[in-house]
Amino acid sequence: MKILVTGGLGFIGSHTVVELQSKGFDVVVVDNLSNSSPEVLKGIENITGKQPFFENIDLRDKSAVQNLFKKYSDINSVIHFAASKAVGESVENPLLYYENNISTLVYLLQELQAKKEAHFIFSSSCTVYGQAETMPITEDAPVQLAMSPYGNTKQIGEEIISDVVKVTGIHSILLRYFNPIGAHPSAEIGELPIGVPQNLVPFITQTAMGLRKELSVFGNDYPTPDGTAIRDYIHVVDLAKAHVVAVQRLIGKNNLSKVETFNVGTGKGSSVLEMITAFEKVSGQKLPYRIVDRRGGDVMEAYANTAKANSVLGWNAESSLEEALASAWKWEQKIRNKA
Ligand code: NAD
Ligand code: WQD
Repeated sequence: MKILVTGGLGFIGSHTVVELQSKGFDVVVVDNLSNSSPEVLKGIENITGKQPFFENIDLRDKSAVQNLFKKYSDINSVIHFAASKAVGESVENPLLYYENNISTLVYLLQELQAKKEAHFIFSSSCTVYGQAETMPITEDAPVQLAMSPYGNTKQIGEEIISDVVKVTGIHSILLRYFNPIGAHPSAEIGELPIGVPQNLVPFITQTAMGLRKELSVFGNDYPTPDGTAIRDYIHVVDLAKAHVVAVQRLIGKNNLSKVETFNVGTGKGSSVLEMITAFEKVSGQKLPYRIVDRRGGDVMEAYANTAKANSVLGWNAESSLEEALASAWKWEQKIRNKA
């Protein structure tokens, strides 16, 4: 069984390719290398003993997408990761985000609608909930006005898919990720942020490595127990496994409706200060940090109610926060040649 993984050389995509291959799936990766490197193919091979098929295609090129589906005419299952994901950049350049995150989705669905039956897993985000009123967040919490063009592309993407499944043979699962962190325990693949990391964990590991002077903690005046903001950090390998379970659910026709939505998180919230303490424990490094003002657009807290993913999807996050942080640290050391 062949699965098309778009953005399969990126952070979450590469870990998912590994999990798919270890379950016996043949994988075709499409990636334009805009936020990844061809070296990732080697990392995947080092873990699984096998390289996926690789197509260096920009999914904004509609005719290239058409040719892709001509070449792999037997493919009817797609896991769609390819997108731009930097919130700040999306505010600066919204059209880049609407083109890259929406046109690519439309072109893929146009190819899949020609098939009698097709399966489509979509990378959505907990960002669609904004600041939810109740914690933990269930899937029926209202989607709130997006705080950025990036967040809006996830909401629009979900709406497009919900409309399209009604009139086609496409079945879809929308996975709303909480905060993915960490790397494969082998340190063969991991996250490769370009420039100054915007996300907490790569900033922490780069600071511990001495590449950054100190971590800025964005606000300690939130109404949370220690004043810093709370998130649900999930090990990327657990998140990758959720995709395998989701695609198997669609292939096995076990889905209960043509579009299903699942939160993918651990169900546990951690504050920024708790993250620092946990990192110091697993790395044995003291982390220099300073409290600064809140970052615009940040929510105070977001963590998942995972009951639906656990009981309906049959998936659970297995790794601890410490394991996730240890893997992120091992990866950082490996890419800086210190491991
Ligand atoms: P990533 O940037 O590491 O991976 C995305 C991959 O897609 C990259 O390898 C990039 O080169 C490729 N790509 C981008 N545009 C493309 C195009 N037009 N054609 C072909 N390839 C293209 O990002 P990630 O963290 O792995 O995120 C994967 C998906 O999950 C994205 O849709 C993202 O919005 C979503 N998501 C990520 C997070 C997170 O915190 N990382 C959270 C929620 C949702
Ligand atoms: C986590 C916490 C920060 C950096 C973003 C996107 C979201 C999603 C995941 C895709 C927050 C604090 C961070 C730093 C800090 N992506 N922090 N100092 O903001 O939850 O979500 O990435 O869909 O859309 O908005 O993740 O890792 O940036 O921040 O204090 O240098 O760490 O304020 O509380 P976030 P993050």
